Amino acid sequence: MRKIKTIADISCTDKRVFTRVDFNVPLDEKGNVTDGARIIAALPTIQYLTQNNAKVILASHLGRPNGERTMKYSLRNVALVLAKHLGQPVLFLSDCIGEEVHNAVSKMANGSVVLLENLRFYREEIDNDPEFAKKLGSLCDTYVNDAFGSAHRAHASTEGITKFVRENVAGFLMEKELEFLGSKILQPERPFIVILGGAKASDKIKLINNLITKANSMLIGGAMAYTFLAAKGISVGNSPVEESQIPVALEAIKKAQDIGVNLLLPVDHVITSSFAPEQKAIGAISTVQGGIPQQAIGIDIGPETADLFSREIETAKMILWNGPMGIFEIKESSAGTLAIAKAIARPGVTSIVGGGDSGKAIRESGYANKVSFVSTGGGASLEFLEGNPLPGVEALDVA
Ligand code: 3PG
Repeated sequence: MRKIKTIADISCTDKRVFTRVDFNVPLDEKGNVTDGARIIAALPTIQYLTQNNAKVILASHLGRPNGERTMKYSLRNVALVLAKHLGQPVLFLSDCIGEEVHNAVSKMANGSVVLLENLRFYREEIDNDPEFAKKLGSLCDTYVNDAFGSAHRAHASTEGITKFVRENVAGFLMEKELEFLGSKILQPERPFIVILGGAKASDKIKLINNLITKANSMLIGGAMAYTFLAAKGISVGNSPVEESQIPVALEAIKKAQDIGVNLLLPVDHVITSSFAPEQKAIGAISTVQGGIPQQAIGIDIGPETADLFSREIETAKMILWNGPMGIFEIKESSAGTLAIAKAIARPGVTSIVGGGDSGKAIRESGYANKVSFVSTGGGASLEFLEGNPLPGVEALDVA
């Protein structure tokens, strides 16, 4: 893997440092940040830059405003949350390009921090427009990308800008993400156990194909497991099955057998009589072993599977977890996911949570600080773990 230059490899003193962060955080209807994990994860880079006397210009997107100045997607509240965590003022600028932004940046003292308004208020950001990228680049001497969560996007602030800045390096969060989801997976400590879940087998098939050759065991839960069970001829009742993925699932099962990977599927299930995804409402629940009866819908792995998976996890030296085991937002179908969160939080083991829903689940379970690393990426983690290069990383200077 290419070794990327980081902020530790350069001098930041007196420099205007444009730092792309991923502050695409969830907000409630009042605009309050409901999960600040991405803000907290960017603190080491921001603090290093301020302590090294840089002028720190932070930039991010929030939501998908599609080129419109939509105030519910303003980063203003994020600036307040960030200032609290940093323990220093963060000057919020109500635009990300233009004269006022230039004036404010030219007045910055060493060690100070500004946060620009949402980059996606300009359509040119997602179009990777060179003129727009040039305008962003003209604000700084050095570009830092610490936005792993956006590194799969070739946007003006993640890729285009690097063509207009002399020095383009990674922040500490980006470095850590590349280490845990990149180098460590390429050379895993063994036994290496991969746990995959989530709704659709089709979303994870590239991931399965990339990881199956690296893992010693692969544990599959979540709704995607029903496609695998159906492929093996096990009844899954009314649980969601992607018929088009059955041959692909069979291929993965065969490949696992051929190369000696222990592929485990659920042996029991939490089932319900009805499930309305919009309302997150379920009917009566029960547990069944083996196949799922006609009419019933699987909503979580059962206790025996949780036990089987947990015992397998106990043998691991390294664990990667991506995707919940059931509908964990509903209490009655959250036990399987919680059991995995608990099982992977073991001392002396490298435990990596691949972000997205599993990141949310490990934080909500209370075990986040007992695992080695929780990725801040959603789509980016998935793409990177599939083995795809990320445009935001490819654009950075090599060490
Ligand atoms: C994410 O939340 O996955 C990133 O911030 C990227 O957001 P996007 O999918 O809107 O580009």
